[in-house]
Amino acid sequence: MPSFRSEIAGVSVVELARRFGTPTFVYDAAAVRRRIADLAAFDTVRYAQKACSNLAVLDLVRRGGALVDAVSAGEIRRALAAGFPPVGDPPPIVYTADVFDAESLELCVDREIHVNCGSPEMIDQLGARAPGRGITLRINPGFGHGESRKTNTGGEQSKHGIWHGQIDECLDRAERLRLSIDGLHIHVGSGVDMEHLSRVCGAMERAAAEAGPTLRYISAGGGLPAVYRPTDSPVDPAAYFTLWDAARKRLEQRFGHPLRLEIEPGRYLTAESGYLIAEIRAVKRQGQNTFYLLDAGFNNLARPILYGSYHPMSIAPADDGAGRGEQEVIVGGPLCESGDIFTQEEGGFVSTRRLPEAKVGEYLVIECVGAYGFVMGSNYNSKPLAAEVLIDAGRPHLVRRRQTFEDLIRGEEIPKP
Ligand code: LLP
Repeated sequence: MPSFRSEIAGVSVVELARRFGTPTFVYDAAAVRRRIADLAAFDTVRYAQKACSNLAVLDLVRRGGALVDAVSAGEIRRALAAGFPPVGDPPPIVYTADVFDAESLELCVDREIHVNCGSPEMIDQLGARAPGRGITLRINPGFGHGESRKTNTGGEQSKHGIWHGQIDECLDRAERLRLSIDGLHIHVGSGVDMEHLSRVCGAMERAAAEAGPTLRYISAGGGLPAVYRPTDSPVDPAAYFTLWDAARKRLEQRFGHPLRLEIEPGRYLTAESGYLIAEIRAVKRQGQNTFYLLDAGFNNLARPILYGSYHPMSIAPADDGAGRGEQEVIVGGPLCESGDIFTQEEGGFVSTRRLPEAKVGEYLVIECVGAYGFVMGSNYNSKPLAAEVLIDAGRPHLVRRRQTFEDLIRGEEIPKP
């Protein structure tokens, strides 16, 4: 089957490219809503906005009934700007991190943002400024897993979370500072398989038993995988809920009161909703290899160069595509760096992709880029950040205009002689 894609959420790719330019990220609002609905059995779906934090996406998630996680002062401000109230039960915004910087501590204190502490120092620093608060602890259960070593967030080699052997000590610290431990949170990695995700349940039960009956909720963290390759099997959200619900019920029996069950997905909610439209600017032969060189590079999508991640790709043909052959191609970007290749494996090994024959001026769509796509973009090579478009009910909305050169140099100054 040749990989052609002529439309996204009912809107023509060629039209989107002509109207908004390239490279442009396009998100399908209905796909995000469907993913939130998949997880409705959990008491709280808390969106890990680091995956895609455009205000329009946050607004969509909020209207879909999900709450939000923030890992920086900027993400707290984004959540507030998108209409999440600072305070509520359950807390609409949770700051989850391993450290406070000066600004995030100020915001958490002043706006009463709920804090999920990933280090003993955070307990001390919050306790000194805001005694009497309820907090949660992010626990490192001593193991982790991820699609790549770089997305594994548990175990001894990970900087994340409070080490499971230090729970007791942290309870004492919190008590001294009159902070109550309302909940526990464990997140062991991103792009995790079901087997590892289910081990987290057991770790949570052990940690919760130690933390005791002041707990009012537990969070399963994020990590639910998305379907990137045709061979990836989708997760079964109902089976995942059943696993966690059983752990929650055992803890409820032990404590004699109800516990709220949260889940904190990023990728699962947005990855498959996102597309990056790029224009093919050269079709180049280098010895035996054919390259499609695009106007998008790792400044727009860093996952392949960082993790060797696989993203589906398709061609939006200028005609109906009929009768075109296919070829093995290497797909790369415009940056002045040889690693600027979208078809690569972890370790930087270049691979090829079977794609329809295409001409300069046609569009190539990189798919499944709604999570950790735009947000990991950079201005490397003085490239402006791409535009972002949200399609809702068949209507495309520009939700971030492309950066201009003036945006790029804003704040820079040449010293006066
Ligand atoms: N909660 C916490 C505490 C996290 O650290 C993360 C991800 C999530 C939730 C959401 O994980 P998700 O459901 O999206 O897997 N840039 C990498 C992913 C890094 C994830 C970091 N933390 C990538 O492109 O794959």
